[in-house]
This record gives sequence, structure tokens and C-alpha cells, in this order.
Amino acid sequence: MSSQENPEENLPAQHGTAHGAVSVADEKHPFADPGLPPHEHRVQDIDERAAKRSERTVALLFTVSMLATVGFIASYVTIDIDQSAYIWPIGHISALNFALGCTLGLALFCIGAGAVHWARTLMSDEELVDERHPIEAPPEVKTKVMADFAQGAKESALGRRKLIRTTMFGALALFPLSGVVLLRDLGPLPGTVLRHTGWRKGKLLVNMNTNEPLRASDVTVGSLTFAKPEGLEEHDHDFQTQIAKDALMIIRIQPDDIKDKRELEWSHEGIVAYSKICTHVGCPISLYEQQTHHALCPCHQSTFDLADGARVIFGPAGHALPQLRIGVNDEGYLEALGDFEEPVGPAFWERG
Ligand code: FES
Repeated sequence: MSSQENPEENLPAQHGTAHGAVSVADEKHPFADPGLPPHEHRVQDIDERAAKRSERTVALLFTVSMLATVGFIASYVTIDIDQSAYIWPIGHISALNFALGCTLGLALFCIGAGAVHWARTLMSDEELVDERHPIEAPPEVKTKVMADFAQGAKESALGRRKLIRTTMFGALALFPLSGVVLLRDLGPLPGTVLRHTGWRKGKLLVNMNTNEPLRASDVTVGSLTFAKPEGLEEHDHDFQTQIAKDALMIIRIQPDDIKDKRELEWSHEGIVAYSKICTHVGCPISLYEQQTHHALCPCHQSTFDLADGARVIFGPAGHALPQLRIGVNDEGYLEALGDFEEPVGPAFWERG
């Protein structure tokens, strides 16, 4: 009698009578375990011809993989590296790369597909239940571990060898200090550097566009001019660092329009100099509305009233723009009368 006539002989062996750990509820285990659903045999399990077909399919896939590998080697040997081929819709590409990619991809795909088909159709698909074991160690193992530990402590003579014990604890306590020492590499501490800029008494205000010192007569009402301290040049190695603190906005306002008394005192005939660095997170302020005397930071729209001590009238900036006290020298050039009296830029530095 053939296996086709007696399909039962193709069926996988059953392990035990129950399928899964079937149990009924009792006092100790209040939830019944229904076990696994009944196993359904595949057609290959009961039909030898179907099993043969699957076998041939798997063999075909592995054979195609072998041929693709041979094609890969042949492509590598025979196709010139400079040869190109037109592949629709990609266009012209390297013939060698295309051949290598296709053959290698096909070889790998067929191995994978053959293995998957083999596992799904011919290998045993019987569900097995592997009960989870308790993670906790049994009492005798725990007792043994504690006994081993006590034995080890006794054999090390840690209690008796006080010198070793003391020096060991000292070594372990001191060792983390080496990490603390490494913190020095985070330095040097900024000190008061962040509180000072390049402005000093007598430093001329230089137009950042023309690189020429600014005369009071150069600044007209309604105009906005950006200035830097004399001596700071773009090719200086620390130019970016310095200009991030020194950049100024110079505007001229009718003195009668200036509402803040100190602003008026620190200006020269209505010419006022404010830090160009926004006090929110330090963007350069670049927009000025002459009608309202409002300066707008483009980053988050903080708005400062330059006629009223540059106080914040809108946006997230935390405090007014610092003002630089200015005057004119004997030759009519605008000059600083000192440094800023507060840190420029984000309010963070006020805590520095
Ligand atoms: S940096 Fe100016 S508003 Fe945010």
C-alpha cells in the first residue's frame, strides 16, 4: 500500500495526548488553560504528491540560486567595467554593476525563498508548548550561593587583614576622584569675559558696511546703521566671537521723541547706540521701523522700543537691549564713552 493510500503515515508524530498544557480551574489555579486549538494538517502532510511538488519547488529555487551565483561570477569575469547598458526606465547605467546586482540579488532571494518554502510546507509544523520555568532560584541554590559567599569572605581573610581592608576601601573611595579631575578639561571658566565687550572709552564707532568711522553727521533721522569698534577687522581670528558681543545698532531719533531720560543722556543729539544682539537667544536684530522706532528681531519677533530705553513691547525677550553710552570726539567722529554696563545678548548671561 502506497503512502498516498495511507496518508496517516505522513503525519508528524504526536507528543503526548493533550495538545498544549490543558488544565481545569481549581483553587490554586483559578483560570483554566484551554491549551492550543486543534492542529490542522497541511496538504503536504496528508498528500505525498503535494509534498513532492513542494520538494521540487524548493529544489528549483536552490538550483536557480546556484545558476545566479554562476552568473554573478561570469558577469564579473566577462563584462568590462566601463561598459554601459540602457535599462528602462533607469536609463544608462554600468552594465557590470547591473549584472552583479541582479545575479547576487537573485541568488540570495532564491536561497531565502527556498528555505521559507521548505519550512512552511515540509518541515514539521506541530505546535509545541514550552512551559516557562520559575525565575527565582530554589532555596537550596540560594543557600549554596550564600554559603559560597561566606566561604569566599572567610578565605579572603578580609576581616583579619585590616591593613588590606583599609587600603582597599581607600583605593576604591579615591578612584572616582580621577573623574572629577577630568572636569578641568571643561574649562577654563568664563570668569567675567562674558560681561565685557570690545567697547572702551574713546573707541570709534565704525560703519560695518563701509568700514569707515562714523561721523555724527553721517547718521540721519530714521536711518539704521550697524557699527563695530575700531580695530576689529573681519580677518581677525576671533572676529565672529567679538562681533557677537560688540555689534551695534545706531539710529537717530528726534531728541523730543526719546521718552527714556537715561537714553537721552547716553545719546548724542538723538543718536543712540544699542546692542544689535537680541536678549532672547541672541539673534542679530535687523529690522527697524522709523515711524514707531521699533526694532524687530526676525527670529521670534521680539520687538523693542528704541525711543523708550529699548524696552520689550512684544515677544519672548526677557529684558531691554543694552545701550552703549556714546559721544563725539574733537573731529566729529562718534566714539564710545565706555563699555556696556550690562551683559549683552541673552538674559542667561545676567546670571553669569
Ligand atoms: S532671538 Fe530674538 S526674539 Fe528670539
